[in-house]
Amino acid sequence: MKRNQQIQAHFDQEAQAFDEVIQKIIPHYDQMIEAIVASIPFAKDRPLSVIDLGCGTGTVAQAVQNIYPNAVITCVDLSEEMLEIAKQKLNNQVTCIVSSFENLTFETSYDVVVSSLALHHLEDQAAHQHFYRQIYQALNHTGLFINADVIQASSTELQEAFMQKWITFMNQQITLKEIQERWLKSHFEEDRPQPLMAELKTLEQVGFQAIDVVYKYYNYAVYLGKKA
Ligand SMILES: C[S@@+](CC[C@H](N)C(=O)[O-])C[C@H]1O[C@@H](n2cnc3c(N)ncnc32)[C@H](O)[C@@H]1O
Repeated sequence: MKRNQQIQAHFDQEAQAFDEVIQKIIPHYDQMIEAIVASIPFAKDRPLSVIDLGCGTGTVAQAVQNIYPNAVITCVDLSEEMLEIAKQKLNNQVTCIVSSFENLTFETSYDVVVSSLALHHLEDQAAHQHFYRQIYQALNHTGLFINADVIQASSTELQEAFMQKWITFMNQQITLKEIQERWLKSHFEEDRPQPLMAELKTLEQVGFQAIDVVYKYYNYAVYLGKKA
């Protein structure tokens, strides 16, 4: 099975349970989402145009909507089942696009391009660079790209420490057997996390300005760049 098909099948199957499961799998998930919305610098009453890439069940879009009630939000995801839940959660107040990142064409421009726990599914750093160029083009002049994601450490030793921290977090609520046989298995099969430093360099190469890391917890980070 191609990797994207496997990823789609995984998230279609997991959609109903996703919001509960993510809290057990991702350390301090709510804090990470909070870091995304706290980084958006625009006036709260602005009708921001926002696109959420790999929106899943719409948690990020909902967090944006809570703070920016006039935001016009587009949600993109490979998984129709995840998008279906996002639609319900957001009372159909968003435009939904079923698409892979690889096949996505940005039809309009945005004030904010946001993504959470999704872009690590791209194949490699070259694919990130290609997609970041498209994101850059799709941003309005004062626009901002924010990515929350799982990342790779800069050395093998540190990566081992990151993995241990992640496993310890999951093990608070999940058995080691399930962690090994389910969550680490799917992580190694489906995920392609990139080193944070490479990500920041790529953003710079693409032309992003004021690049920064606004949140970090071992192998999870929220980082951003402005168009100008
Ligand atoms: C771990 S979930 C994160 C969902 C949400 N952003 C959040 O933070 O709760 C990853 C999402 O990315 C989507 N996804 C993964 N690879 C994708 C791709 N190549 N194109 C579009 N969506 C993708 C999955 O279907 C899934 O809904």
